[in-house]
Amino acid sequence: MSKEPLLKVEELTISFESSEGDIEITDEVSFDIYPGEVLGLVGESGCGKTVTALALLRLLPIPGGKITSGRVLLKGKDILSLSAEEIRHVRGKNISMIFQEPSAAINPLLTIKTQLMECFDYHEFEGNSEQRVLDLLKRVDFPDPQRILSSYPHELSGGMLQRVMIATALLMKPDLIIADEPTTALDVTVQAHIMELLLEMKKETDTSILFITHNLNLIAQYADRLIVMYAGRIVENSHLEPFIQRPLHPYSKGLLNALPNINEGKPQIIPIPGQVPPPKDYESGCRYRERCDNAFDLCIKKPDLLPFNDRQNVACFLYNKEAR
Ligand SMILES: Nc1ncnc2c1ncn2[C@@H]1O[C@H](COP(=O)(O)OP(=O)(O)OP(=O)(O)O)[C@@H](O)[C@H]1O
Ligand SMILES: [Mg+2]
Repeated sequence: MSKEPLLKVEELTISFESSEGDIEITDEVSFDIYPGEVLGLVGESGCGKTVTALALLRLLPIPGGKITSGRVLLKGKDILSLSAEEIRHVRGKNISMIFQEPSAAINPLLTIKTQLMECFDYHEFEGNSEQRVLDLLKRVDFPDPQRILSSYPHELSGGMLQRVMIATALLMKPDLIIADEPTTALDVTVQAHIMELLLEMKKETDTSILFITHNLNLIAQYADRLIVMYAGRIVENSHLEPFIQRPLHPYSKGLLNALPNINEGKPQIIPIPGQVPPPKDYESGCRYRERCDNAFDLCIKKPDLLPFNDRQNVACFLYNKEAR
């Protein structure tokens, strides 16, 4: 792994305006993505995964969503300080996104061809652009790409639109693909094929992938490292193997115990009791405390994300000898 990160996210705090004032959604989220790696991002629904991803491309809903503090450095340059014109060049070319909801990225009034070819208006591309589009549509499992190009979005199923969006994200051979639940709308065989395609991209062009999913089985299969998010904070940041063998944070352990078959012969799935609190109820101390079997008096304070060893970092007082 190269020493210089491709993307460095530093203490990113995001909030949404509400009638009761600003509500903080993420709290000083920091992580790095290195060239050519797959970084998994997991956590239950509502933890702030999508909001974090959107902020990296400055796509938070306007008005309402805003970045209150922090930096996002792409190859050392802060993309939060770029002009609207400059960030448009970053999108698609340096960083592209496969959205959780295809409808967020697809215009219902334009043919697929118009939408795909539009990317070439913003970015320079060497070679035959139409051929590139046809090749990619084939690679995302469309046997008749010409027919897809002349279709309007309403003529395609949700799974087909998802594959069109994946092709769009790959068009410019970006440095980083943010894939937000990229395969949930797809059946299992297509899902596996799409994941293989993303991995081929990673190999061919050293593309990095931020892979957001609920599905820890997919993370175990495809990620090199992962971050675990709970209630707007990163609670664990780890290489894959030690995480699977020995997750540290009680929340990470809970997520792994809730999996159907990561360890064969395990008698049952053990769900985590309780729910993620809504952001307006986020506490200043450890936010997992209410659901945690190991909570003790120190947990009313905020645990910092600290190195446990050179491959695992965790934000939990169980591992913080100095604080104890
Ligand atoms: N436009 C918005 N206005 C106000 N709050 C929002 C908005 N979008 C998201 N949120 C809130 O931000 C929090 C994080 O949402 P986000 O969509 O990032 O979760 P997620 O981890 O991606 O969940 P999922 O796994 O369901 O996709 C949630 O509490 C959500 O209600
Ligand atoms: Mg989401």
